[in-house]
Amino acid sequence: MLNNTTILVVEPGEISTNPLVAFFKKQTKARILYAKDPTEGLEIIKNDPRIELLLTDLFLPNKSGLELIRKGVGKNPGLVPIVIMPPGTRRHIAESLQAGAYFYIGTPYDYQEVLEVIKNGFEYQKLLTETLHWNTGLRKSDGFAGIIGESAVMKSMFKTIEMVTAYGHGNVLLEGESGTGKELVSQAIHDMTPGRNRHNFVPVNCAAIPDDLLESELFGYDKGAFTGANRSKKGRLQHADKGTLFLDEIGDMKPGLQAKMLRVLQEHVFEPIGSVKSIEIDIRVVAATNYDLDRAVEKGTFREDLYYRLCVVPITLPPLRERTDDIPHLIKKFLLLYNRGRRHAIQDFTPRALQRLKQYDWPGNVRELKNLVQRMCILHSGKRVDAENLPEKFKKDGWPEKNSSGEAENHSAEALDFHAMTTDYENRLILQALNTANWNKKEAAGLLNMKRTTLLEKIKKRNLNPD
Ligand SMILES: Nc1ncnc2c1ncn2[C@@H]1O[C@H](COP(=O)(O)OP(=O)(O)OP(=O)(O)O)[C@@H](O)[C@H]1O
Ligand SMILES: [Mg+2]
Repeated sequence: MLNNTTILVVEPGEISTNPLVAFFKKQTKARILYAKDPTEGLEIIKNDPRIELLLTDLFLPNKSGLELIRKGVGKNPGLVPIVIMPPGTRRHIAESLQAGAYFYIGTPYDYQEVLEVIKNGFEYQKLLTETLHWNTGLRKSDGFAGIIGESAVMKSMFKTIEMVTAYGHGNVLLEGESGTGKELVSQAIHDMTPGRNRHNFVPVNCAAIPDDLLESELFGYDKGAFTGANRSKKGRLQHADKGTLFLDEIGDMKPGLQAKMLRVLQEHVFEPIGSVKSIEIDIRVVAATNYDLDRAVEKGTFREDLYYRLCVVPITLPPLRERTDDIPHLIKKFLLLYNRGRRHAIQDFTPRALQRLKQYDWPGNVRELKNLVQRMCILHSGKRVDAENLPEKFKKDGWPEKNSSGEAENHSAEALDFHAMTTDYENRLILQALNTANWNKKEAAGLLNMKRTTLLEKIKKRNLNPD
């Protein structure tokens, strides 16, 4: 078992007396390496790119096991770390996962459990290297990290982004339905623009900030500019100087502010509220909207001159239903994200399941797909997700019927189903946390970030028990 694989164990002590090393040598054909501290461990990781699995003690001393994980993964992105956790340290689970651990094993060892975690760790490792190779290809050919897309429309979008980032100036307008990746693209534009990427990326959501506040957020103010302005405050425009200002949901900006923004874009100067001193700035604005801004221009709610200033380079993000060939690639990426912390890695979605997903309409686009993968990682215990395992909405033949206004009808059966499904989902999360915490309710409540009394109430009401 586990031939041609390499495991590195990092624990204090001597190799000759280490119980894990002895166990692996006896039970597997894996190549076992050993280090007694993080420094030695990192040296081995640097020199041996074949290591697939790292088992490290968390306290080596303090919590330097976490440091080793971070640095180790930095050196070898294909490495799958597993943390060894002594009793009473499980409150560090979240921290370990954040540092890059895939899973944890408790001490004293339950060797059956160790073997299971190791096997699943290897499966996860295969998935990881596959995706890494594929990602590297993507980066090499398109110069992107993070934005997944192999379809022709996405590739052509990547080309446009490449041109935009090579130039460094010129505002960009991103148009696309909700969840298509506008924020991701805006960040990529900033990260990939030489010069600007050394300065700030400043996101501002025009719909989330009340109108009067938006103005002072953007422009800043001088002390005494209005009641309550006890001191001067720099605006986000100034924070974005030499960098990128991301104006999300720009269509919601009110006419008065539109006029002020227009001046900034034309003259590259502005005055903070209550100030007579002009400040010069050099920003690139990336604006985003999830509805047709030119229609708002036609209706007169959005200034035409500002629209043209923003729209020097328009980029339209295609909805997911128009690039369904990207679905398997996106799934692979999201599985890596959400398999962490699970004992059983989901390896893939079957062709039948993918077929269903490709037929679906995806009103929430990539965000909806990401949520689906997360949900499957929590709820599904098998290695493959088949068509039957998918939520109801994917099992139907065809689409929800549209009513005369073109909107999907809200069937009450679906509403009931939603309630049952969310309760089921909650129960599983609660049970997962309780099992992790050995039914210590306080610890489980901590893991769930939930009040202990709320947890107790739910356990009682739903009659949840260890069986
Ligand atoms: N091409 C992609 N590759 C990988 N992840 C993606 C891609 N597109 C979107 N995502 C992910 O989907 C989620 C939604 O993306 P994002 O927030 O960028 O969408 P948006 O267009 O800004 O949506 P909204 O209009 O609702 O604000 C994010 O978690 C993002 O990381
Ligand atoms: Mg967004």
